Amino acid sequence: MKTNAEILEEIIKSRKSIFPKDYTTETIPQDVLDKILESANYAPSHKKTNPWRFRIFQGVEKTELGETLAELYKATTSPETFLEKKYLDISDKVSKANTVLSIVADFSGKVPEWEEVAATAMAVQNMYLMATANNVGCYWSSPGMIHHIGDYLQLKENEKCLGFFYMGMK
Ligand SMILES: Cc1cc2nc3c(=O)[nH]c(=O)nc-3n(C[C@H](O)[C@H](O)[C@H](O)COP(=O)(O)O)c2cc1C
Repeated sequence: MKTNAEILEEIIKSRKSIFPKDYTTETIPQDVLDKILESANYAPSHKKTNPWRFRIFQGVEKTELGETLAELYKATTSPETFLEKKYLDISDKVSKANTVLSIVADFSGKVPEWEEVAATAMAVQNMYLMATANNVGCYWSSPGMIHHIGDYLQLKENEKCLGFFYMGMK
């Protein structure tokens, strides 16, 4: 029988980023999704600020997110660098993920901002590992549009979007 250390090592070493084109159309079971989200809450944070904030996008909301990201790409890219294929790929990628989370850090003011970013990244790593252990493909995406999506996500002054976490069954 494998020890806990051996199992953990196996999960850590097998974790990798898996992109929406490689997800199946299968729905992630709710209990698995709950476990993945719950795992984030076990990340460490200085002064226990627990700065990670995730919003879940599925179904119609996810479609709207994909369209919003694509439109933001168009609106914030100069005509010389704009690529029609990239524009179309953005919503296609979102549509191929079963669930997308916005990754947001809440800056409490109690510790330096980099510590809140670091803690949020640790929460995302926990989700990566829990997803891996449950045969869920996932990856962290940080497109340029994250600097312009604050209004859409209704972020507060002290919140910053650090990217999106795509998930789908392998
Ligand atoms: C903070 C962060 C941001 C990332 N942003 C992107 C991204 O915008 N696009 C992308 O293709 N991958 C992104 N990735 C995933 C990396 O490309 C991936 O982790 C790296 O290639 C190593 O592969 P692995 O995760 O399979 O070990 C990001 C990863 C992290 C940690």
